[in-house]
Amino acid sequence: MITDHDVLVLGAGLAGMRAALEAARAGADVAIVTKVHPIRSHSSAAQGGINAAIAETDSWESHAFDTVKGSDYLADQDAVEAMTQEAPRDIIEFEHMGVIFFRGPDGKLGTRAFGGASQARTYFVGDITGQALLVTLYDQILKAGVKVYEEWFATALHMEEGACRGLVALEMVTGELHLLRSKAVIVGAGGLGRLYEPSTNALICTGDGYALAYRAGAPLMDMEMVQYHPTTLAGSGFLMTEAARGEGAYLLNSLNERFMKRYAPNKMELAARDVTSRAEATEIGEGRGIDGNVLLDLRHLGPDVILKKLPQIHEMALDYLGIDMVKEPVPVRPGMHYQMGGIKTDVEGATPVPGLYAAGEVACVSVHGGNRLGANSLLDTIVFGRRSGKVAAEYAKNTPASTGGEALLRNEQERLRELLARPYTGETNAGLRLELATMMDELVGLYRVEAGLREALDKLDGFRQRYETIAVGDKGRIFNQALTFSLELGHMLDCGETIIRSALIRTESRGAHTRSDFPERNDKEWLKHILLARRGEGEPELSYLPVTITRWQPEVRTY
Ligand code: FUM
Repeated sequence: MITDHDVLVLGAGLAGMRAALEAARAGADVAIVTKVHPIRSHSSAAQGGINAAIAETDSWESHAFDTVKGSDYLADQDAVEAMTQEAPRDIIEFEHMGVIFFRGPDGKLGTRAFGGASQARTYFVGDITGQALLVTLYDQILKAGVKVYEEWFATALHMEEGACRGLVALEMVTGELHLLRSKAVIVGAGGLGRLYEPSTNALICTGDGYALAYRAGAPLMDMEMVQYHPTTLAGSGFLMTEAARGEGAYLLNSLNERFMKRYAPNKMELAARDVTSRAEATEIGEGRGIDGNVLLDLRHLGPDVILKKLPQIHEMALDYLGIDMVKEPVPVRPGMHYQMGGIKTDVEGATPVPGLYAAGEVACVSVHGGNRLGANSLLDTIVFGRRSGKVAAEYAKNTPASTGGEALLRNEQERLRELLARPYTGETNAGLRLELATMMDELVGLYRVEAGLREALDKLDGFRQRYETIAVGDKGRIFNQALTFSLELGHMLDCGETIIRSALIRTESRGAHTRSDFPERNDKEWLKHILLARRGEGEPELSYLPVTITRWQPEVRTY
């Protein structure tokens, strides 16, 4: 089947759906392509809240400064200014759409504290904020008449004379490949968290959007900046929201000490995530952990706060560890949570590739720089989703429809046929995926060093060679998840390579990127972004961009 639309959006999380809604409002014929039902998108896992300077005592400048400081001065300040200035109206708009944010006894929208913020400015719906926004937005896109290609898996972007003009996607229920042409494509396909094990991310977060854009020639920026969240549940790596600490929970070591006093005496448990995660790793490394974890203690908050404001994490700790956090502390450890880098865009979501836009975690505007503040990611999705939808619709108005793409469709049909025809070698994609993700955690995780990164690059090369030979277990057409799993692994390998290469290049420590062999931040040489772009076979092309500084010069960063 060949179908035409004005704007195609890849991904149905908050960024994708917000972009689709805005493009539809601008009069475009919009369709979303998503490998899962929209409300199963990973945005639904965002727990703690969304930031905005709405209160009279707050200001967008304060929010912006906290964000820039949190980013370890790598964020582009023009983009941060846009995001923090527009945050209040975007959140209020969601309330008008139907999101029931928490309100205090005075009837006003209530906030909770979050890490790295100089005041409480996180708006929330219990500990299911992402889910509340997502279901509301899904209603809106249905109302706006956006077509959803649900459980369709994108395999390649359709490029015509250097511009992006649609994509090829596998309709999972039939096993048919289709060419979906458009005048513009917005990638809002979420993160790559499962490239690491353990991770707080859903199993669907396999870096599809990064890899498809990268293969189409779009540069990836700041890919070395991978965030570890300080509180992921022992064993499974599930998110135990930062909102727990925002409500007042303590982090304790085996000596029952609130150890953050040594690392962030002013902010304690509410320092930025990179600082808190490293502090935990130090405690564990120096023998003050408990079986490789530290403890998150909420007992003093009492059952009322825990059960009313944090019901989901209470249930998760009970279900997965049998621990009732009202009565006992919960073992947690740092775990991979978020990719700050991504497809390089300007503040409107446009990539350097004509017709290609990106928003949300998959994009790098860059508002998070070296370290994202908690509750700024939901904000990023709705601000830059909206912005990219608007400009993509405008671009589509002045762009002729694509007439090509059949050759790409045939190539993709052939590629998948070959993949399915491979003979079984005894090796599985699942085994390789676990090996890759474990290696990323060990060698490209919280701490990095040149020798480890070189070893990781060599290993990744070996994984790639093995990947090229692995058979797809299921040879059928209908809902062949073994096939999509294999395609996902190919995407993860591309993402892994750009992370490792960028981490090798950045010979300093900044934000989440800690090089044990270069422990200091080095503004003189490294106040710049690293970009990698694929140009044919061989090593990617490296370039740099200066950090945009509007008003906050880099300072020593303490909490
Ligand atoms: O801890 C959390 O609730 C996570 C929020 C975020 O990553 O923004």
